[in-house]
Amino acid sequence: MSYSHEPVLLEETLANLIRDKDGTYLDCTFGLGGHTKQILKNLSEKGSLFSIDKDLEVKHYADLISDKRFTFKTSTFSSISTLFPKKSMDGILFDLGVSSLQLDKPERGFSFMREGTLDMRFNNSSGVSAKDWINSASEKEIADVIYFLGEERRSRQFAKKIILARKTSKISTTKDLASIFQYKGFQKKHPATNVFRGIRILVNDEFEELKNGLVSAIKIIKNNGILAVISFHSAEDRIVKKFFKEEYQTFFKDIKLRMIAKIKPEKKELQKNPRSRSAILRIGEVEYVS
Ligand SMILES: C[S@@+](CC[C@H](N)C(=O)[O-])C[C@H]1O[C@@H](n2cnc3c(N)ncnc32)[C@H](O)[C@@H]1O
Repeated sequence: MSYSHEPVLLEETLANLIRDKDGTYLDCTFGLGGHTKQILKNLSEKGSLFSIDKDLEVKHYADLISDKRFTFKTSTFSSISTLFPKKSMDGILFDLGVSSLQLDKPERGFSFMREGTLDMRFNNSSGVSAKDWINSASEKEIADVIYFLGEERRSRQFAKKIILARKTSKISTTKDLASIFQYKGFQKKHPATNVFRGIRILVNDEFEELKNGLVSAIKIIKNNGILAVISFHSAEDRIVKKFFKEEYQTFFKDIKLRMIAKIKPEKKELQKNPRSRSAILRIGEVEYVS
């Protein structure tokens, strides 16, 4: 099976990220290379692009790109400031969330639409899988994850249902978990949507990684360089917004992060790619003030 990922807010990202075609750029979320390939197309012969992703399967797809201006490394957001020299990047991109490679492969366990082992780890060689967590967490822990990370108001009720189901048999697959919540035809989305998202955020420690990634990114961006972040839900966007607005000042006394754009997909993109529905692209410019 071949996988492809429709890059979200592509034109808007390229237009804001690339100010110098001869510059050096970093894509922190290679995924299936949707943004990476287009960034490369927009750079000159002198330009260069580094991409990372923590998913071990991604390297295979990155290796298919044969371009001397391009380098891929399996790594994490929080490691970029040790991977790359200080003030070396003209622009850095984070396209958060899950790639089609992860969603469409049943055995990765990200989607309740596909029967597979409940895993959900971006890097499944370490950490705790969703299956191990859901079968051992307390009712309160489950409710908190569903509420705070999944932003689901019915968290307590949902946690009770999970505990009850777990008493009968172990929750091992995506279908085991999804079937605890009955989908009624009139509902806009499957009630398990936020449960899956909360657990995914937890097992990948996504929010801590994002916060550390933003701090690390600032350390390696040049004066007047660009930080571009695409978020997909409100809890994620809140972290980005807060960082851009004020939080960066707790870490950096000598820079200003000027918010220069906040962009949502146009109708045309929403029709073509439903995944872009909740996307928000925030663009900041780093200015060294001393
Ligand atoms: C939405 S996808 C990126 C899609 C990509 N822009 C494209 O067009 O093909 C997000 C990617 O970020 C990766 N990722 C998530 N958290 C990460 C982290 N902390 N460090 C490195 N990569 C991460 C995921 O493994 C996933 O492949």
